[in-house]
Amino acid sequence: LYNPIPSYLIRPRPLTQVIEVAHGVGARVLIDACQSLPHIPVDVSSLKCDWLVGSSHKLCGPTGIGVLWAPYDLLGEMPPWKSGGSMVDQVCLDRPSTYNPPPLRFEAGTPPIVEAVGFGEACRYLMELGMENIAAYEADLAIVLWNKISESTLKMKLYGPSPTQCAEVGSRRIPLISFNHEHVHSYDLASYLDQQGILLRSGHHCAQPLHREALHTEASLRASLHFHNNEKDIDRFISGLKTSLELLEC
Ligand SMILES: Cc1ncc(COP(=O)(O)O)c(C=O)c1O
Repeated sequence: LYNPIPSYLIRPRPLTQVIEVAHGVGARVLIDACQSLPHIPVDVSSLKCDWLVGSSHKLCGPTGIGVLWAPYDLLGEMPPWKSGGSMVDQVCLDRPSTYNPPPLRFEAGTPPIVEAVGFGEACRYLMELGMENIAAYEADLAIVLWNKISESTLKMKLYGPSPTQCAEVGSRRIPLISFNHEHVHSYDLASYLDQQGILLRSGHHCAQPLHREALHTEASLRASLHFHNNEKDIDRFISGLKTSLELLEC
């Protein structure tokens, strides 16, 4: 199971090499693309992974639905994981039951029709914008975000590689930045920002060992941008940080 963009230290990892190494030792690879699909173009046919999954709600679609991609033959080798309407072929008493071909065998019961239509439209919308355009726009936004926080003299410690360090290894930084103030707990800053209508995530971001062992802190703040954000949002965020720290007398 491999997550090409972890929640935290945001530089896309070298996926093709990881898949090659895993296949070289006979392992199969499931790409958890929940966090990469909204930000970078992903081409399953050239990746040569075995499975790839993603969540609709992270792709501007409805909640409660996602996508599983795999080569059709591999899907055909997989047994159903849940019983219900529309997934059986023959139910027999004297021999094992048989199941409908994929994708039906994996979609037991009444499907989430509204969610599927909404998810399809969300994908169409993103494809019309163009994932390469989104990635390029967000890479520029990441540079602005990084520079504005680091130049703000707000005593923030930024985690992960800078956009310049990413560029040095031929990568682009995703516009999410995790950071901490020297003296203020991330929960406090997040609450003050929230009161100004600025939403940041605070906590361990599903990366407890990383925080504990490598960053030596329990929690951090994460500013996360997407293609609908712009430089004005970043300015508002920086000014929100300043106001919060003034209120906290830091
Ligand atoms: C990498 C990754 N995988 C899986 C999930 C879970 O997705 P869902 O809420 O659609 O089950 C998340 C959600 O935060 C995630 O970031």
